Amino acid sequence: MTLHEEIRELAAERNAVILAHNYQWSDVQDVADFVGDSLGLSLEAQSTPADTIVFCGVHFMAESAKVLNPTKKVLLPNLAAGCSLADSITAASLTEWKERYPDHTVVTYVNSTAEVKALSDICCTSANAVSVVRSLPNDKILFTPDRNLGRWVAEQVPEKTVVIYDGCCPIHDIMRGADMRKTIEAAGKDTIVIAHPECRQDVVELADEVCSTTAMMGVPAKYPEAKTFIIATENGIIHQLRKRYPGREFVMADGCIGCRLHCPYMKVTTLEDVKNALVNLEHEVTVPEDDLVGARRSLERMLAVPRDN
Ligand code: 13P
Repeated sequence: MTLHEEIRELAAERNAVILAHNYQWSDVQDVADFVGDSLGLSLEAQSTPADTIVFCGVHFMAESAKVLNPTKKVLLPNLAAGCSLADSITAASLTEWKERYPDHTVVTYVNSTAEVKALSDICCTSANAVSVVRSLPNDKILFTPDRNLGRWVAEQVPEKTVVIYDGCCPIHDIMRGADMRKTIEAAGKDTIVIAHPECRQDVVELADEVCSTTAMMGVPAKYPEAKTFIIATENGIIHQLRKRYPGREFVMADGCIGCRLHCPYMKVTTLEDVKNALVNLEHEVTVPEDDLVGARRSLERMLAVPRDN
């Protein structure tokens, strides 16, 4: 029996659902019941009838699954799956910012801990950030922790004043417009550029489409004439794009087969880890009761807002 088959058998025995983010290794994506972006995974976690959720992503995502469905057992196959963006804001630093901007509504990207979500008014993902900010009655927004997503949202919603925290995802923030221009030139005519809104402004300005990873999956269908797509996000997304559009060419935006666009946290989880998670029912994610209630309020408010894309 292959490792993939063993995992599927174990998942059935345990009545477990395997959720995987678009940035996971391709063999981990292939063993999952559902592959998606942060928003899609939260919705799946919220509605799953399974007893156990094996979350192949990073810690904050598994924590959100627990917050949204606290009676389920949520397992993170590898405890080293952190997120440097989530770590860039703490409860203490957010409290200090809230004191500096007391009349602002706090919008927090889901790439944050449950403790930080609990101190926020509402969450957002890259798939609904613009709609979330637009939906708020207050015109003064404190956006945390991603400065690039915050800038993108502020541009789309100019009627609001958006104060932006100074965190970033190093994988997206490393890309530069100058490199992107070279990649576009090398790709030639009929090329479409797709960028994640966590990219810097000089990269986003060169993009034809700016969207979440799952929304990226729909882009090639919108451009039937385009031959090549340049992708400015973590390299795991290429697997799903190639599966869905076998005749199209996908090129990573860093011009070096995505070696710089490789998230060490997303890629720490292996197929072996997924099997061990199911065999040993490890590592169970827990959220302190104090954070759970507030984080759930912020996440549920977000889920009531429709997707941007
Ligand atoms: P998505 O919202 O597309 O899942 O992106 C999540 C993320 O962490 C990007 O770095």
